[in-house]
Amino acid sequence: MMVMSPSSEEITLPATTELPKHVAIIMDGNGRWAKKRLMPRIVGHKAGVKSARTAVEVCAKNNISALTLFAFSSENWNRPRKEVDLLMDLFIKSLREEAKAINENNIRMQIIGDRKAFSEKLQSRIAEVESLTENNTGMTLSIAANYGGRWDIIQAVQQLIAQGIKAEDVDEAVLEKNLMLSGLPAPDLFIRTGGEHRISNFLLWQIAYTEQYFTDTLWPDFSEQHFAQAFEDYAGRQRRFGRTGEQVEEDA
Ligand code: IPE
Ligand code: IPE
Ligand code: MG
Repeated sequence: MMVMSPSSEEITLPATTELPKHVAIIMDGNGRWAKKRLMPRIVGHKAGVKSARTAVEVCAKNNISALTLFAFSSENWNRPRKEVDLLMDLFIKSLREEAKAINENNIRMQIIGDRKAFSEKLQSRIAEVESLTENNTGMTLSIAANYGGRWDIIQAVQQLIAQGIKAEDVDEAVLEKNLMLSGLPAPDLFIRTGGEHRISNFLLWQIAYTEQYFTDTLWPDFSEQHFAQAFEDYAGRQRRFGRTGEQVEEDA
């Protein structure tokens, strides 16, 4: 990975554009991308990894503070065994190949999801990358793997019960502190590529007020220019958080 590489083109954004601080992406459409080319699905997943690298570069370059990528859902175990195995191998390989560049670019990387289901090899690779990058102060890159939004809420509740918290002490802040993305601001912008208009059990709690952006572009085709479009669309939104448009304009 070459974050800030001299060869990468400048993103064409107006100087006044307000960028999201936290971007969360459902990277969907790898299989269809491969199918269109009469290739096996894994070829699409490999192309998807390249696109993920571009996403990290673009977000880091634009000083976005957090990027969360959905790589494998808790429901993706239902895919054919062969595809799951190949995805796991690709995950291990990608962690090995990307770790150095991620670290050199001061990016802190964490895996969110139930890692206990992964092979020992993958678990130890995850632990290595996390400890290598844990003191980095740049962008936080969270990879959601064996992640489900419902699971996230349940594991938070389990932690609260284990801590012996009293019912009356449970509030939004307390629950949030035990969710996987605790410590990060909620995503400002959610992107789903691949044409489906659904959440597929990605972040549930955290996207209550996140701006949603759906595009038909398949994930392997999602380039810097597509990011520019998404950011421009985001910049044109008025986030009201329950208030009136007039109130928001007065405050601006
Ligand atoms: C997303 O692409 C990657 C994973 C879910 C691992 P898909 O594999 O879902 O691609 P499509 O939706 O079949 O095109
Ligand atoms: C969501 O995509 C999961 C990831 C991108 C990792 P899916 O392709 O699994 O979602 P559905 O099954 O079409 O809802
Ligand atoms: Mg899909």
